[in-house]
Amino acid sequence: MSRDEWLRACGVERADALVLLRELAGVSRAALLAHPEAALEPRCLAQLERAGARLRAGEPLAYVLGWREFYGLRLEVGPQVLIPRADTEVLVEFALAHLEPCGPAEVLDLGTGSGAIAIAIAHERPAARVQGVDTSAEALELARRNARRLLPAARPGGVPLWHLGDWMQALPPDAGDFDLIVSNPPYVAEDDPHLQALRHEPALALVGGRASADGLADIRLLVAQAAPRLRARGWLALEHGYDQAAAVRQLLLRVGLREVHSLRDLAGIERVSAGRAPGP
Ligand SMILES: C[S@@+](CC[C@H](N)C(=O)[O-])C[C@H]1O[C@@H](n2cnc3c(N)ncnc32)[C@H](O)[C@@H]1O
Repeated sequence: MSRDEWLRACGVERADALVLLRELAGVSRAALLAHPEAALEPRCLAQLERAGARLRAGEPLAYVLGWREFYGLRLEVGPQVLIPRADTEVLVEFALAHLEPCGPAEVLDLGTGSGAIAIAIAHERPAARVQGVDTSAEALELARRNARRLLPAARPGGVPLWHLGDWMQALPPDAGDFDLIVSNPPYVAEDDPHLQALRHEPALALVGGRASADGLADIRLLVAQAAPRLRARGWLALEHGYDQAAAVRQLLLRVGLREVHSLRDLAGIERVSAGRAPGP
């Protein structure tokens, strides 16, 4: 079968099919335009057919490929972790804006999943000491692999430290306090109709282990646990749902944080809220 025949017959969106051709068969868009009639090798064709079938069954492209690009880094992903979203880059931008480019800092990522946020920060701020927490051992294993592949072994802030467990309780006694705590926690309400479209991603990442009608159960706990562990003038910044900004700002104010405000995502919706510990 030729490249062009497969493209027309594969039954998946053209943009996705072009990515599969490039990634699995090594056929760039330019090569396709120049030689659409070129035959696909049987091994490539078999791989493309398998990948096409998974996409037609509704599996996300990132799981089929085994990677997703986040903040310019190609992260390995699999069904044990949430696929990192472009909107979450807003949280990374916030973190970077509040960390000195070359200064030391203590940073914690709660619910790290693939390690996307922690690794992006560690990549951009080489002197920051970065720690990540997750309650899924499989997710942490993936985060560790991503960090090993994407970060220099000899970065000044050291290799990221990964802790298995429930939010702040996962930290060892000597973990210290933090200049910045970031989190993209589970925040989808247990009866949210969008969950059906997200069925390939882990429920633990979306709804969490403390399902609640408003989706805020984990955020309430996390804010209460994290705020006392901020250093003077340290920031806590959280991603949340499109309709949760006001409630999250209230939670941040209630634990005594200052400068509480929300940031908008690429669609102009308030999707990250942050607050700062008082000065010394
Ligand atoms: C929405 S995902 C975010 C993943 C990643 N940070 C990202 O932005 O792509 C939430 C993560 O929180 C983790 N998680 C859920 N409940 C947790 C808990 N009680 N303690 C620690 N991590 C938890 C899930 O396993 C999941 O990896």
